[in-house]
Amino acid sequence: MATLHCLPDRQNLPIESTETILEVLQNHEIPVQHVCNGNGECSTCRIVVEAGLERCTPRTRKEEALAKKLDFPPNIRLSCQTGTTGDVTIRRLIIDAEDIAIADRQFDTGIGEYREQSVLVMTLRGGSDFDLSCFPYDALYVLNRFYYMVNRAVTRYQGRLSSALGNKIVVLFDRSQDGRSSALRTALAIANDLQKLDVLLENLGYAPLQLTMGIHHGPLLQVPVGQDSALLGDALGLANRIDAFAADQSINLLISEAVYQPLASETVVARRLEMPLPKYGFLPLYEIAALNTPEPEPELPSLPQRMQSLLQRFRLWPAKRR
Ligand code: FES
Repeated sequence: MATLHCLPDRQNLPIESTETILEVLQNHEIPVQHVCNGNGECSTCRIVVEAGLERCTPRTRKEEALAKKLDFPPNIRLSCQTGTTGDVTIRRLIIDAEDIAIADRQFDTGIGEYREQSVLVMTLRGGSDFDLSCFPYDALYVLNRFYYMVNRAVTRYQGRLSSALGNKIVVLFDRSQDGRSSALRTALAIANDLQKLDVLLENLGYAPLQLTMGIHHGPLLQVPVGQDSALLGDALGLANRIDAFAADQSINLLISEAVYQPLASETVVARRLEMPLPKYGFLPLYEIAALNTPEPEPELPSLPQRMQSLLQRFRLWPAKRR
């Protein structure tokens, strides 16, 4: 007979090929949540298979549907839908009522994810001087122009505004095929637009804006929090450091080696620098002057999208004439 090694309980339980993991846990009075009574509908009996995934029975249709909906990786299984053909080690995941509440919410938000993304961190420098030296209307006018400009570039290259807090903006690039190239094109477009905006601001008697940007590419953990999500991972910290180093060096835009290498043949490098990193030595960084490849074709809106916008225009027509 096969053995089910159960964590965090540290129990070794015999399991028949006709039994589900949930049945074995219940028979041995191991506390396991099962809100839908083993019908494959709630996911509260979920477990992580730490060893022997290949000796677990394939997902049932119900489990397949739930796993797809919640974005479960292969080793997260529903114990009520899973049997074994040999020794398996599992860990219970839903321990108490709070875990049940979180599992319930995940039907709307998913469980979060860990994947490679490009991160663009930008900081509007001299923000506090700017606040003190301007009347509220002036500050709003200038900041509205600035954020409009940033949003236009981010939208154009399919980035996602992750946070805009104080003078710092974080943008993620995980939608387009090549996040690195999109992040770099966004940063170059913003730098270019900022030059024009600064000319306008000077003509209007405002001080020009100073912006620094850092881009890095690496794995990030995104966990749902309320309507939003929290972002964690070294890649974010490193992009922040690169942005701060750009400010130290009076450079507008720096990218890491991880961003530069795949794009090396497409970039015009103005300077190569090395940023000291505690424990790691020195990190090569690149100041990029331009990209020498043509812009990707903009994606045309789909036919249903165009139909929808056409219908909206007709619906707005009488309102506009009043
Ligand atoms: S007990 Fe509900 S899905 Fe397993």
